[in-house]
Amino acid sequence: MTDATSQQTRLSRRAAGIGESATLGVSRRAKELAAQGVAIVDLSAGEPDFPSPACAIEAARAALAEGFTRYTAAAGIPELRAALAERYAGAHGSPWRSSDVMVSVGGKGALFELALALFDDGDEVVIPSPYWVTFPEHIRFCGARMVTVDTCVVDGFRIHADAVLAALTPRTRAILLNSPCNPTGGIVAADDLRQIVAAAAQRGIVVLSDETYERFVYDGGPYASVAALAADYPDTVVVISSFSKTYAMTGWRLGYALGPPQIIRAALNIQSHATSNATSFAMKGALAALAGGEEEVVRMVAEFGRRRDLVSAALDAIPGVSCRPPDGAFYVFPNVASCYGPGRQGSVELAEYLLDGARVAVVPGVAFGNDDHIRISFATSREVLREGLGRIAEALGAC
Ligand SMILES: Cc1ncc(COP(=O)(O)O)c(C=O)c1O
Repeated sequence: MTDATSQQTRLSRRAAGIGESATLGVSRRAKELAAQGVAIVDLSAGEPDFPSPACAIEAARAALAEGFTRYTAAAGIPELRAALAERYAGAHGSPWRSSDVMVSVGGKGALFELALALFDDGDEVVIPSPYWVTFPEHIRFCGARMVTVDTCVVDGFRIHADAVLAALTPRTRAILLNSPCNPTGGIVAADDLRQIVAAAAQRGIVVLSDETYERFVYDGGPYASVAALAADYPDTVVVISSFSKTYAMTGWRLGYALGPPQIIRAALNIQSHATSNATSFAMKGALAALAGGEEEVVRMVAEFGRRRDLVSAALDAIPGVSCRPPDGAFYVFPNVASCYGPGRQGSVELAEYLLDGARVAVVPGVAFGNDDHIRISFATSREVLREGLGRIAEALGAC
């Protein structure tokens, strides 16, 4: 029964300015169709189809059985913070101690809390484009303004220091990098990264480096972590990463950030009022994954490398589609603009055409800042990929 006298609830200005994540939106619609019995091939999801490491599952199970089910410190369990600090020191020579580590509810949690801790109304945040769909929303939510720097398909969407530095103004508060990049797989080379960080340090600008896809790099390509510059620029760099992709632990909701003490402390204060701590027994599982999950990570990344070749070649062979194999992450970002036409004008309509006509879910590139492309995830079995690619080829062949 409806109350004829009630007025519509007014949402906050912040909530009104934010929309559903485009990637989650497509996934939701694909799941709705699947629930209606439609055989959808879902190539939209950003999560590995591999199981979480057996050692992580066992450790979380044991923690639960032992009653490790209470609140922990907001920053996470000390042994996980220490293990992360040690891992970064070992891999990149970073000086961060366990007190400089914040474990969060997903990498997303850390990124949001850092945005809230750093960005004010009118601040500018420089990000390479195409970009992950969530970055603009975080920036907007804080009242800041996103300044994009285009990356280009011809060199695999690499991030170049000169382009990033040309975008800096007196209002720039932060540079937000994501290498390897979702959706393009583009990376930043060590030289460019050093130039960016050095210039940022001189101007008091923070460099936030989202390295969620750090392990998904192909052809032995160079991977540069901002952690390698933390000793030289301790006040400037923050690294954000996650257990989600590396260890196929998306549902565990575990991410983390390492950085300057005053920034980590500010983000932690926000976290302490937002989520308190990440899940206690999940952190025990993550600790085990760090110690014993490597073999499974290597196996998964090798398989992703094979899929990346298969998918890029199959898409590139479709007339009107151009697809360069990505340097990293687990998405391809083909240019499909030549397939546009009546009823398929732009990436949203093309994605709808593929979902309704070919029953394949992909994500429109416009959500990532480039309407000429679509994003296709290859974090699914080769069998499913072949089926999806066949359907796409058929549907676009008919264009
Ligand atoms: C670029 C990027 N950063 C961060 C995340 C956050 O992942 P999570 O919150 O699962 O750790 C994602 C997830 O899709 C991502 O693509």
